[in-house]
Amino acid sequence: MADHLDLLLGVVLVAGPVFGTSPCSFDGVIALFRFCNFTQIPPIPNSTETLLLSFNYITTVTATSFPFLQQLQLLELGTQYTPLTIGKEAFRNLPNLKILDLGKSHVDFLHPDAFQGLSRLFELRLFACGLSDVVLRDGYFRNLSALTRLDLSMNKISSLSLHSSFQELNSLQSIDFSFNQILTVCEDELKPLQGKVFSWFSLKANNLYIRVLVDWEKCMNPFRSMQLDTLDVSGNGWTAIITENFCNAIWGSKVSSLILDHHTMGSGFGFQNIKDPDENTFAGLAQSSVARLDLSHGFIFSLKSLVFQKLKNLKVLNLSYNKINTIAVNAFYGLDSLQILNVSYNLLGELYNSNFYGLPGVVYIDLRMNHIGIIQRETFTFLAKLQTLDLRDNALNSIDFIPSIPTIFLGGNKLVTLANIGFTANFIQLAENKLENLAELYFLLQIPDLQILILNQNRLSSCKPQNLPSRNLSLQQLYLGENMLQLAWETGSCWDIFKGLFNLQVLYLNNNYLNFLPPGVFSDLIALRGLSLHSNRLTILSPNSLPANLEVLDISRNQLLSPDPGLFTSLRFLDITHNKFICECELSAFVHWLNQTNVTIHGSPTEIYCMYPDSFVGVSLYNVSTVGCDIEEVLKNLRFSLFLLFTVTLILFLMTILILTKFRGVCFSCYNTVWRLVFKDQAQGTESDMYKYDAYFCFSSKDFEWVQNALLKHLDTQYCDQNRFNLCFEERDFVPGENHITNIQAAVWSSRKTVCLVSRHFLRDGWCLEAFSYAQSKCLSDLNSVLIMVVVGSLSQYQLMKHKSIRGFVQKQQYLRWPEDLQDVGWFLDKLSQHILKKERGQKEDGHIPLQTITTIS
Ligand SMILES: *[C@@H]1O[C@H](CO)[C@@H](O)[C@H](O)[C@H]1NC(C)=O
Ligand SMILES: *[C@@H]1O[C@H](CO)[C@@H](O)[C@H](O)[C@H]1NC(C)=O
Ligand SMILES: *[C@@H]1O[C@H](CO)[C@@H](O)[C@H](O)[C@H]1NC(C)=O
Ligand SMILES: *[C@@H]1O[C@H](CO)[C@@H](O)[C@H](O)[C@H]1NC(C)=O
Ligand SMILES: *[C@@H]1O[C@H](CO)[C@@H](O)[C@H](O)[C@H]1NC(C)=O
Ligand SMILES: *[C@@H]1O[C@H](CO)[C@@H](O)[C@H](O)[C@H]1NC(C)=O
Ligand SMILES: *[C@@H]1O[C@H](CO)[C@@H](O)[C@H](O)[C@H]1NC(C)=O
Ligand SMILES: *[C@@H]1O[C@H](CO)[C@@H](O)[C@H](O)[C@H]1NC(C)=O
Ligand SMILES: *[C@@H]1O[C@H](CO)[C@@H](O)[C@H](O)[C@H]1NC(C)=O
Repeated sequence: MADHLDLLLGVVLVAGPVFGTSPCSFDGVIALFRFCNFTQIPPIPNSTETLLLSFNYITTVTATSFPFLQQLQLLELGTQYTPLTIGKEAFRNLPNLKILDLGKSHVDFLHPDAFQGLSRLFELRLFACGLSDVVLRDGYFRNLSALTRLDLSMNKISSLSLHSSFQELNSLQSIDFSFNQILTVCEDELKPLQGKVFSWFSLKANNLYIRVLVDWEKCMNPFRSMQLDTLDVSGNGWTAIITENFCNAIWGSKVSSLILDHHTMGSGFGFQNIKDPDENTFAGLAQSSVARLDLSHGFIFSLKSLVFQKLKNLKVLNLSYNKINTIAVNAFYGLDSLQILNVSYNLLGELYNSNFYGLPGVVYIDLRMNHIGIIQRETFTFLAKLQTLDLRDNALNSIDFIPSIPTIFLGGNKLVTLANIGFTANFIQLAENKLENLAELYFLLQIPDLQILILNQNRLSSCKPQNLPSRNLSLQQLYLGENMLQLAWETGSCWDIFKGLFNLQVLYLNNNYLNFLPPGVFSDLIALRGLSLHSNRLTILSPNSLPANLEVLDISRNQLLSPDPGLFTSLRFLDITHNKFICECELSAFVHWLNQTNVTIHGSPTEIYCMYPDSFVGVSLYNVSTVGCDIEEVLKNLRFSLFLLFTVTLILFLMTILILTKFRGVCFSCYNTVWRLVFKDQAQGTESDMYKYDAYFCFSSKDFEWVQNALLKHLDTQYCDQNRFNLCFEERDFVPGENHITNIQAAVWSSRKTVCLVSRHFLRDGWCLEAFSYAQSKCLSDLNSVLIMVVVGSLSQYQLMKHKSIRGFVQKQQYLRWPEDLQDVGWFLDKLSQHILKKERGQKEDGHIPLQTITTIS
């Protein structure tokens, strides 16, 4: 016990000053001592494997600086703020060190034996240490038999006379001399490296061979009998002549990948004085088996004939970021093995049939970011192996040259229409063009084997209906975001664009100004897993409007008022942030669902908030309570009063029933006459208010005859002067040519009441149901009952309840039934008139169950 305490105390005491505060911490294996203001090596526990000491003020490292640290593998001593002196065998207590990093420390004294004893050292980072040629000349790296990577970039090395001990570094594979001032490299200097195989040899950015006149006869081949995977001589500003001399000098040395970017070859645009590379420039590489050549970032204006003819093994040629404007006939002649040709970011304006002659094996041609406006028809047709053609960001306005290859990028061009030509492809990218007509989409969908089609950021908005057979199409992913599909769909046409897409898995319809989804538009999408509808203007999602097997739905940034959670049963993931929820009892099912669903809901609770009523604006749906919204509960309170009322009514009812059943028609007209005599025209003067119409009559057009005879003729002023209502109905008052939804919305908003004549036809008419839902949502936002429902014909309760929105209404509100007996019609019309005239506040006397407002939790 005491021992235990001691140990603990000891650890605390030792650890306190050194490891106490972050960022200077130690977890048993990693010692994180960066930025700790150390001026010398601190005490290090012997279990340390990684020691990070950069960004300190350490000035000296000697043989005794480190305790014996058998476990240590990585030591970082870079970026000391003070000059660093490294003494003899400074690291000898670190026998298993694998990586030593001194980068960016100014080493003002380095003992020639500083690195002795590091027999396991794998990587030595000495970049930007202010080292001179001496470090190479004097055998500093003797005995580092495991050394594989040596980084000497960004020093002050001006010549590469290597000490003979380099010959013994049998593990050395990668050596980096970039960003020094090595003006020449000749055969003598690199002699100790002969016979070695390098994966990486960099002489980048040294002004190599350009500041001094090189006598190549004497200099000979610096890489004689070496094998280089990658030789980086980029950034030296080589002209075509220097390149030619260098290539000739290294004749026969194997170089798989030659990096020569940031050169000065080529005349550039508008100049003539510096020559473009020609057939001699790379001729010296004929025996070097070069597979990759990077000539990007230069000034090549014209690709001359036969310029690459000796590069039989070349697989990848990067000519991007030059000024290439012309490709001579046979420019690519001889590139028998070439697979990837990169001519992106150049100045090509047109392509000719002859441009790509001599490329029998080319798989990928990258022509992005040129100015190509026209391409001759046969340009790509004879390239038998071509798989991918990238023509993004050019100026194309026609695609009649398109070959049948798997992958085609055509984004960012000027395509307005696509010629109706036959070709096949698996992947077509046509984003950021100017396609307007959905006819293009119908055409593209018919392309055999098409799997992915990207049409984002076009102008798809008009519709030429097509009569295509709706086959089982192969498409799997369709991107239609940022178009204007609303404009096409609101005319009532092109609702069948997704017909036959039985294999579609992903569909993007974001940012299309959609305010409705055409009924059944997704009905064929049985394989659809992901649907994005974000940033549209949807207010309502009707039942069955989503694909049956949908798993991921993004419907954020719409205007959903009161979604039905039943829609989301198949989902795994839902983004419904930034909508316009109406926080009334209608929403309680959704609020409840949100609280307990297994579906992953994207976004933070604060992003799912109420928009109405005003007192709830911005309140998270997770923070509203639905207490008091339960209909059962409210009913229980009402039950007793209903019982009393019922008993009294029953007695009265039994008494009057006899009289009324026999003479009700006569009674009613007597009553009416008396009423009219007594009150004269008082009733006529209905108060004018802000509404254009008294009521919007919504009914199926198949019922029109009947409605006209039974209702309109008795109510509407235009049918008879005696009538007192100014009614609105589709056949007469809708603005022709206007979107139907807009008409319905306008009618609902400019009428005091909406009268829905629910008949058999009504229930089959999607527009009628839409109008019903819309009027209902207006009820919610206005907090009044603008909706009057009249059931016509022998519809059973069950038939009504089948429809979600009607069910919601029937459960909470009264509705009227058209009388079966003709003599009741007069009475009924009067009743209906009263309902139409009734002001909002009258609703409570009506026996309606008042909507309980939702309350916030604290
Ligand atoms: C190092 O010194 C600076 C300046 O004196 C101070 O701001 C910083 O907190 C010190 N860092 C540590 C880890 O002590
Ligand atoms: C570390 O040092 C402790 C004593 O300070 C010793 O008991 C232990 O064996 C050492 N561990 C290693 C791995 O050398
Ligand atoms: C290091 O190399 C020198 C000669 O280069 C040799 O004399 C010495 O024995 C070597 N030391 C070790 C530890 O291998
Ligand atoms: C040149 O293109 C090749 C492939 O086309 C690519 O791997 C390489 O990164 C490119 N070089 C530069 C500097 O972009
Ligand atoms: C072509 O080069 C450009 C720029 O160097 C690069 O971004 C692009 O990825 C390359 N293309 C291919 C197919 O490698
Ligand atoms: C469509 O074709 C695929 C295979 O090509 C098949 O698996 C799928 O059942 C077909 N779907 C329909 C609805 O015909
Ligand atoms: C949520 O998952 C649990 C266990 O996976 C399951 O028991 C529960 O029924 C699920 N709830 C819903 C609403 O699906
Ligand atoms: C929800 O309520 C909690 C406390 O109950 C509060 O901290 C939080 O800010 C509220 N969130 C919102 C979005 O109102
Ligand atoms: C959410 O669920 C928790 C328990 O699962 C419950 O306590 C809370 O009242 C619920 N909130 C709402 C708004 O339904």
